[in-house]
Amino acid sequence: MREVLLAGNWKMNKTISESIELAACLKQSISGSSKVIIFPPFTALTSVYDVIKEGKIELGAQNMYFEEYGSFTGEVSPLLLADVGVRYVILGHSERRHIFGEDDILINKKVKAALKNDLRPILCVGETLVERQEGLTENVIERQLIGGLDSIMNAAALKVIVAYEPVWAIGTGINAKPEEANSVHKFIRNLLNKNYGENLGEEVTILYGGSINSGNIEELGRMEEIDGGLVGGASLDCRSFIEIYKKLERAKSTVAWGE
Ligand code: PGA
Repeated sequence: MREVLLAGNWKMNKTISESIELAACLKQSISGSSKVIIFPPFTALTSVYDVIKEGKIELGAQNMYFEEYGSFTGEVSPLLLADVGVRYVILGHSERRHIFGEDDILINKKVKAALKNDLRPILCVGETLVERQEGLTENVIERQLIGGLDSIMNAAALKVIVAYEPVWAIGTGINAKPEEANSVHKFIRNLLNKNYGENLGEEVTILYGGSINSGNIEELGRMEEIDGGLVGGASLDCRSFIEIYKKLERAKSTVAWGE
């Protein structure tokens, strides 16, 4: 289940025509063995799906509500996302937690709804700068991870992808040091092992996110516990995302075969 993966979170950017252009450029150039998922805004999902459906890039959504249908004005459900070709969904992103007040209980409902509807959730966890300075990183990660995965059985938990995204690193140009991120990833694997047994933590794909660019991805990708990246700003430009992809592939081939 554990795989090398690069995810591009376009956030609230790109019109439909800009999205089509970026997706077409990525489709042309991405040919390696690592998985790539792009997360355009809702308005561009259908158009981007039409561009990438025959290729190797997969489609994800940046958020969703946990109900399948009903009177929830302005929300988008897992059923509606699956209907337009979405297979993955980012849940618990720090912008959802901190700007829109989403808590672990709501995020857990969303994770369960995604799994029920065959969407793979990317569950984001990460501490703020103040929490880090107060030495609370592991407490925060544990609360968010255990809360987000509450009452999810082993088989379903294996489908969850975790993204460690320290809030202080998102959009700031300051990425976590590779060794620091690696040790938080190890902590997450140990927590999963403890809670689920059967070494489940070794099987779950864990991404790092926060100011990834073509200059730091290789160093991050060489870390054993980091399976790939969730990229924001640098995923909006075709050339820079492709460069990140190629460097991640190179770094991972070094890890795997000890070149
Ligand atoms: P960034 O965003 O790469 O722009 O820091 C990452 C994210 O929010 O997922």
